[in-house]
Amino acid sequence: MKAVRFLVAFILLVLASKLASATDPSPLQDFCVAINDAKNGVFVNGKLCKDPKLATPQDFFFSGLNVPGNTSNQLGSVVTPAIVPGLNTLGISLVRIDYAPYRGLNPPHTHPRATEILVVVEGTLYVGFVTSNPDNRLFTKVLYPGDVFVFPVGMIHFQFNMGRTNAVAFAALSSQDPGVITIANAVFGSESAINPDVLAQAFQLDKKIVDQLQSRFWSDSNYGV
Ligand SMILES: *[C@@H]1O[C@H](CO)[C@@H](O)[C@H](O)[C@H]1NC(C)=O
Repeated sequence: MKAVRFLVAFILLVLASKLASATDPSPLQDFCVAINDAKNGVFVNGKLCKDPKLATPQDFFFSGLNVPGNTSNQLGSVVTPAIVPGLNTLGISLVRIDYAPYRGLNPPHTHPRATEILVVVEGTLYVGFVTSNPDNRLFTKVLYPGDVFVFPVGMIHFQFNMGRTNAVAFAALSSQDPGVITIANAVFGSESAINPDVLAQAFQLDKKIVDQLQSRFWSDSNYGV
């Protein structure tokens, strides 16, 4: 009985420490405005930061997320990140996503370093994510203006505009650098192709179809923020 209790406590502890390390490390200063040149800079957490005495409101400001992105591309969607120097080390980021009517798709992808929370402000989006093996459960929902959906860190997820109008969403992510892995691009469009035998067997496809998939131009609307 004691051993079981110890085991449960130990597992909880391991889980807790994993959760604690699932986001960016907490900063040890108010802010760390990112700069590119070393003049007037200090190193914090291995990054070059502006001397806090020289920081201005402009460092925490971004303008233009009211402007629709251009969705005239293969996927009919575009991600516009808010680029704010003062976000550096704060463990959060923000994007606007535009989707063309009927077809705008933010294709299946994952963020290895961030949970995402998305709010729809215009249009109708069919969204979802799939859980890890072995269950691979699909959590899905149709979203309307004002609706919010969460994509847990690392899960493969997507958004699709199934409506007759443009759709617009804003999403916050729990890392300043969430990372993006777009599944189709990574698997079939890697720079220097994966051996088609591997993909034919993995996806149970004829090799000709794999060749076809690999020769496609894989576009990616998903800006790495
Ligand atoms: C949108 O992108 C397309 C394709 O790149 C381009 O032809 C078009 O001029 C752009 N539209 C605007 C309003 O910038």
